[in-house]
Amino acid sequence: MSIRRTTVRAALGGAEGATEIRVMGWVRTRRDAKGFSFLEVNDGSCLSNLQVVVDDAAEGAALVKDLGTGASVAVLGELVPSPGKGQRFELRATCLEILGPADPEAYPLQKKRHSDEFLRTIAHLRPRTNKYGAMLRLRSALGQAVHRYFAANGFAWVHTPIITGSDCEGAGEMFRVTALSDAEAALPAAARAEKDFFGKNAFLTVSGQLTAEPLALALGKVYSFGPTFRAEHSDTSRHAAEFWMVEPEMAFADLEDNMDLAESLLKDLVTVVTRDCAEDFGLFAKFVDPGLPERLAAFVAEPFVRLPYAEAVSILLAAKKDFAYPVGPGLDLQSEHERFLTEEHFRRPVIVYDYPRAIKAFYMRQNDDNETVAAMDVLVPGIGEVVGGSAREERLDLLEARIRELKLPLEAYWWYLETRRFGTVPHAGFGLGFERVLMLVTGIGNIRDVMPFARTWRHLEF
Ligand code: 4AD
Ligand code: MG
Repeated sequence: MSIRRTTVRAALGGAEGATEIRVMGWVRTRRDAKGFSFLEVNDGSCLSNLQVVVDDAAEGAALVKDLGTGASVAVLGELVPSPGKGQRFELRATCLEILGPADPEAYPLQKKRHSDEFLRTIAHLRPRTNKYGAMLRLRSALGQAVHRYFAANGFAWVHTPIITGSDCEGAGEMFRVTALSDAEAALPAAARAEKDFFGKNAFLTVSGQLTAEPLALALGKVYSFGPTFRAEHSDTSRHAAEFWMVEPEMAFADLEDNMDLAESLLKDLVTVVTRDCAEDFGLFAKFVDPGLPERLAAFVAEPFVRLPYAEAVSILLAAKKDFAYPVGPGLDLQSEHERFLTEEHFRRPVIVYDYPRAIKAFYMRQNDDNETVAAMDVLVPGIGEVVGGSAREERLDLLEARIRELKLPLEAYWWYLETRRFGTVPHAGFGLGFERVLMLVTGIGNIRDVMPFARTWRHLEF
């Protein structure tokens, strides 16, 4: 066959007036009538299927009776206006070819609705369902929107390393990277590090921030966007061991600039998905979370609440709620507290800022009260923390003192400190959890279902 392939998406749009076209895809359903059969064919280019009518007289029509859900086909035919409801065009097959059969008895994706739990066990096939196909197209659109946003706002995209020697967050949740044999790995710690590939301990990064900072302190505005790794032993619906983070970093910026950027970026991403991805977004609004369109419209329209940590604590203490975890000055907010603030008290996104310095990372800029740091978390109803960031401590003496105080290895940060020694400037940045934004725009409640092949505590299949 010499005719080139047309996507289902293009065919449903009329294929630019072409009449004879060739479509390839997977059969979603087959329905037989007297003298012909209907196939619903999907090729992943869009949510909708193309209806294919196979007349008994078409070449290869005898193969139709063997076609089950999941089989792949190539169909040559005539694109005609559809007399049926629900689609403008349909394909009248003149020649049908089976590319790959699928035994209907064995194919795990049946026509009925499957549970998310079951679909996770067949992550290699679930992209062929409507829901996961739509999620993956939205994920792609969202990633492209991230790049467009930063390009339009003068940020340079930088590529921060994945293998690192330092723990940015100081939380000790890093995966070790090693090239040692089992026998070598049994050496005492110092000898083992010396023997290893880099001559020192190496890890997968928990954040690109520390290396993004020197780049921002040269280029002005940068962002990194890539995979991040955390060995958090928490089996929650919002934590993955491997996830993607968007990390902008701005020189000559303070905490307020940081909050403005986070709010503007989040609103832009939500706008893009709801406006430009109507068909896929519609699936989530219809089947996953009917309240989604209204909630996201409000998300974009209303300003986020900006709330100092101390006020958040006062609100929580005054709340007539039985929290499982204690609330009080100096204590970190737990997700139940974050939920109360966003879902019950304010009923919209809340940026909590000026956290106690004792519970935050070493690089955060100390406030004049000596008690708090210029940190911020963006909390969103239903999800919790979506963004975490801060102004960075740009004053060499304070930064050094903090590193000492926390007993971090000062020598290891020599290069980071030099950015403060030579031409230091106020700067700020944050990390946005890409999967958490996907949860926000789809209403999907579990992070495992917004990634193609999730890596979580005790799960490394596929
Ligand atoms: O708040 P975090 O830990 O901030 C940092 O790592 C900073 N160094 C970022 C920066 O300032 N450049 O993480 C940032 C965001 C969180 O708000 C959350 O959305 C997401 O990353 N995140 C996770 N997402 C999925 N699974 C996990 N285990 C996550 N841990 C953090
Ligand atoms: Mg955080």
